[in-house]
Amino acid sequence: MINTGSEAQSKPAVITIDGPSGTGKGTIARAISNWLGWHFLDSGALYRVLGLVATRDRLDISDEDYLVSVASNLDVSFVGMEDRTKVYHNGLDCTLAIRTEECGIVASRIAVSPAIRKALLSKQHAFRLNPGLVADGRDMGTVVFPDANLQIFMTASVEERARRRYNQLKEKEICASLADLSRDIKERDERDVTRQQSPLKPSQTAVILDTTVMSIEEVTDKVKILVRKHGLI
Ligand code: DC
Repeated sequence: MINTGSEAQSKPAVITIDGPSGTGKGTIARAISNWLGWHFLDSGALYRVLGLVATRDRLDISDEDYLVSVASNLDVSFVGMEDRTKVYHNGLDCTLAIRTEECGIVASRIAVSPAIRKALLSKQHAFRLNPGLVADGRDMGTVVFPDANLQIFMTASVEERARRRYNQLKEKEICASLADLSRDIKERDERDVTRQQSPLKPSQTAVILDTTVMSIEEVTDKVKILVRKHGLI
């Protein structure tokens, strides 16, 4: 979808890449933002940082008021490129700490709250800067940037996503079981898809990309073709 309205023209361009975890959307979003020289937003990292704060402070995650206040003042930045991108919260490197399975599960639980999602909205909009933004998450196309110039929704089978996660953990010498990873992925999908507020789903104009049997290079090439087709380069 190419925006031609005056409002869209006055705003920096945005490419949104949504989908469940393990589809490769984060890796592709980073690669495309690097290729274009655009800004990058890993919106899942914002929810994960909240998950980290909640775990660190031993909060009951139903303590919505506190988490809303943390979300409203969240200071998160992404520094560096591609797989070397580091995530900073209040100036501290939390790149590894937010990537644990536990943090992902807490993030997904926190993300159910409409008040927390609302508090994070303006934070996410603030990443929309010239020359453009590549944003990945669950609701980038449907809610946060509905006027994005290009919207992509990535999917992949649960088995393949669990296998990718298993290999990632193995590389880091972290023990995991494929069956446990599959179960966690299914549970997280279920929560992300069925929540009332901003559920995980493709927008009407999103290009659907099933990455189950595609390599990272193949998906990156496909997205580059879409970027060119939409006149963004
Ligand atoms: O993409 P991720 O695995 O880092 O995201 C962690 C959780 O955060 C995910 O299970 C749901 C939530 N999330 C969300 O609700 N909306 C987003 N735009 C991004 C993530």
